Amino acid sequence: MSPRKILIDTDPGQDDAFAILLALGSPEELEIVGVTAVAGNVPLSRTARNAQMILELAGRGDITVYPGCQRPMVRPLFTAEYVHGDSGLDGGDLPEPVQPLGQTHGVDFIIETIMAHEPGEITICPLGPMTNIAMAMVKEPAIVARIREIVFMGGGFFEGGNTTPAAEFNIYVDPHAAHVVFTSGVPLTMVPIDCTYKAVMTPGWLKDLRNVGKKTAVEAAGMAEFYQRWGNTKFGTDEYPLHDPCVIGYLLRPELFKGRSCYVTIEIASPTTIGMTVVDWWNVTKQEPNCMVLRDLDNPPFYQLMLERISRLP
Ligand code: RIB
Ligand code: CA
Repeated sequence: MSPRKILIDTDPGQDDAFAILLALGSPEELEIVGVTAVAGNVPLSRTARNAQMILELAGRGDITVYPGCQRPMVRPLFTAEYVHGDSGLDGGDLPEPVQPLGQTHGVDFIIETIMAHEPGEITICPLGPMTNIAMAMVKEPAIVARIREIVFMGGGFFEGGNTTPAAEFNIYVDPHAAHVVFTSGVPLTMVPIDCTYKAVMTPGWLKDLRNVGKKTAVEAAGMAEFYQRWGNTKFGTDEYPLHDPCVIGYLLRPELFKGRSCYVTIEIASPTTIGMTVVDWWNVTKQEPNCMVLRDLDNPPFYQLMLERISRLP
């Protein structure tokens, strides 16, 4: 089987870094055809630079980063330095990027990439707010029928939200973009916090990662240790979930994940629940499902895979 072609849209973010590194460590299964950056965890200037640094850390400066939208479609930008630090990659000490950023706008890069490949060839993996994806769909509706699948980290249902009681960060930042994507008809697989809260990394795993001793693994361990402190503050535990690598983990080992097809809508009006992913888990609306919603994860083999794949990197 030839590697699955994926386009990663990202707002690094320590957990985004793990998703990108896991994908880079899995060239037999995944080919990254492009990386676009979006404003989210930190402003776009930082997410784009962070994406470059992550790629170059892993020796993949050949993959160009294309900066996309600097703000959500309607709402003002809300960022998460309180989780990720001012740089967005606190805990890491990554070298300054050497490669130039792509000159094409990220939204145009998404359109050009989808239109240049055969229908059904490209899977888009949003790891942040969906602004770039939605803007690409609005600018060039022809891409909608050509996208194989969108597999994204975002949303929540029985877990509620992690940014407001009702909304998860990626959807909360740009709920209107999520609404465009969820009503587009593109095949969707959602990796919500209900699933990613089971993707907790343990101190033992972190130690094994650091003991790999190679630059990429050591820097990844530094980023994870910083990120884990937020977990201690929020959950009072020393085990904290890495959300975004679950998207890549699902593409690599779907059998480690469980979920069901549901009808999902996005709250875009209520001041108290805006950004909520309203997941009809029990099909009470009898509406046609529009999204595979993942809920369960077999954690140990997922983390074993991530350790093994990241340890392949320089
Ligand atoms: O809610 C978690 C998500 O928001 C992750 O993608 C994290 O990187 C932030 O973007
Ligand atoms: Ca992210």
